[in-house]
Amino acid sequence: MAAVEQPPGLLTPRPARVLGWRRETAESVTVAIEPAGEPWAPGQFNMLYAFGAGEVPISISGDPARADRVVHTVRSVGMVSAALGRLRRGDWVGVRGPFGTGWPLAAALGRDVLIVAGGVGLAPLRPVVYELVRRRADFGRVTLLYGARTPGDVLFGRELERWRGRIDVLVTVDAASPGWTGDVGVVTSLLRRAAFDPARAVAMVCGPEVMMRFTLDELRRLGQPEPATWISMERNMHCAVGLCGHCQLGPALVCREGAVFRSDAVAWMLRVREV
Ligand SMILES: Cc1cc2nc3c(=O)[nH]c(=O)nc-3n(C[C@H](O)[C@H](O)[C@H](O)COP(=O)(O)OP(=O)(O)OC[C@H]3O[C@@H](n4cnc5c(N)ncnc54)[C@H](O)[C@@H]3O)c2cc1C
Ligand code: FES
Repeated sequence: MAAVEQPPGLLTPRPARVLGWRRETAESVTVAIEPAGEPWAPGQFNMLYAFGAGEVPISISGDPARADRVVHTVRSVGMVSAALGRLRRGDWVGVRGPFGTGWPLAAALGRDVLIVAGGVGLAPLRPVVYELVRRRADFGRVTLLYGARTPGDVLFGRELERWRGRIDVLVTVDAASPGWTGDVGVVTSLLRRAAFDPARAVAMVCGPEVMMRFTLDELRRLGQPEPATWISMERNMHCAVGLCGHCQLGPALVCREGAVFRSDAVAWMLRVREV
């Protein structure tokens, strides 16, 4: 029987050298790896394989304009993510991808853009923010709302400050610590202060599922139409190419039809517990 050809990089990890790393918070590290030359869109993810540990999906968190590196931000929650967080310059990692759908930047042209991120959910949205800031004149009012557990958990702090000059940035924490002068409370509490016109806005939301559920409810109350809101669903994955069914929820394979979905297509998924 003839061997089945595998598209390179889709089922077989290709080795990539780690070019650099930076600690973001106590739990999160940003890792830059050498590119394979594959184009990618903001919102897409790679399967990263830590040798001896395993393979997990991680979103691309870097600047789409930087062709010399592909950047991921990883929060250590278990064996594989912890191994990825220990990668250092010169180490090797296995990569498959990029996979998945992207954020609707083209649909946002000329419209207000509202970005709502919770925790490490800011990582998949950071490439969008780079683009919005770079092409600022192509969009209406742009607002980034970001919530973290504590001030020490805030990702990309220096960039948040830099972006403030170009877009509206509001940051809140669940629990303040001494010296924190910003907002305290859940990220949805910032929504009523966001300057956006629900009739002409595109919203992009990523974070823990409970945060996304409350954000969608509040956006609906504010009059934001569901088809103009996009969310990124996280589900455990194995193949990432629509073969194994591991990420299946109802009729949707999250790896192939997501992870970025229009919210009216998947709001019900937020109420489905992972099996
Ligand atoms: C499309 C996509 C993009 C992602 N992007 C990022 C990213 O940019 N940065 C990042 O840090 N993480 C991201 N994740 C989550 C990351 O894949 C998981 O944290 C990782 O798989 C955990 O594996 P582990 O072996 O370290 O931990 P495990 O031992 O497998 O899990 C540790 C804990 O995390 C939970 N968990 C595992 N996988 C997921 C998941 N996919 N969704 C929700 N909970 C999970 C488990 O239930 C368990 O409670 C993404 C996930 C998906 C599906
Ligand atoms: S992870 Fe295998 S079908 Fe989606």
